[in-house]
Amino acid sequence: MAAKLAVLISGRGTNLQSIIDAVAKEDFPAEITLVISNRPKAAGLDRAAKAGIPQQVIDHKDFKTREDFDAALDETLRMAEVDYVCLAGFMRLLTPDFVNDWRGRLINIHPSLLPAFRGLHVQERTIDAGVKVAGCSVHFVSAEVDAGPIIGQAAIPVLPGENVESLTARILEQEHRLYPACIKLVVEGKARISGALVQFDSSVVTEGALLNPPALAD
Ligand code: GRF
Repeated sequence: MAAKLAVLISGRGTNLQSIIDAVAKEDFPAEITLVISNRPKAAGLDRAAKAGIPQQVIDHKDFKTREDFDAALDETLRMAEVDYVCLAGFMRLLTPDFVNDWRGRLINIHPSLLPAFRGLHVQERTIDAGVKVAGCSVHFVSAEVDAGPIIGQAAIPVLPGENVESLTARILEQEHRLYPACIKLVVEGKARISGALVQFDSSVVTEGALLNPPALAD
């Protein structure tokens, strides 16, 4: 039986779209049961509607405390019998209790090669730091912000003359490839949380390296 995913968004939902597109493929082992937004006007909700996926707004402004908001979120997820929760541009900090309750089933995507550049304004800080390789990470969520066992990463070179917009767009392109791939591995049990790390099935192998600047020719 296909695993049930909930995707949590706050904004435009391009990562949600990449998951919608992935689950539409025949061999994908999961379906999206529910899209939840904490913002009533999130553009990503239209993507869910277009795909015929049930959606729910849980507006954080309706709750006095973070704990109350998380309790409502938790109840909604349990009612929908969700197996995995995918954060996709969900701009709310979750309480340690919520994170612990969903440990190993709560996944996030972040536009940096973690543990570098946690938090906000990631691409700007990436450019300002002068790093030559940027990218994105998919990770299991732990109580700390943008931290937790890393499931996968995609790396791209930072190009000469790169600005925030161009780097954001190029990282986002990789996010859309990486997130569905990581979700599939988790759902299939090929990537499992093990303490602070993720343990992989031996069938998960990758080769090749990204050097920027490139290596000397042979
Ligand atoms: C992405 O860059 C994601 O890595 C970060 O928030 C952004 C969400 O974009 N957590 P979108 O709403 O999926 O287009």
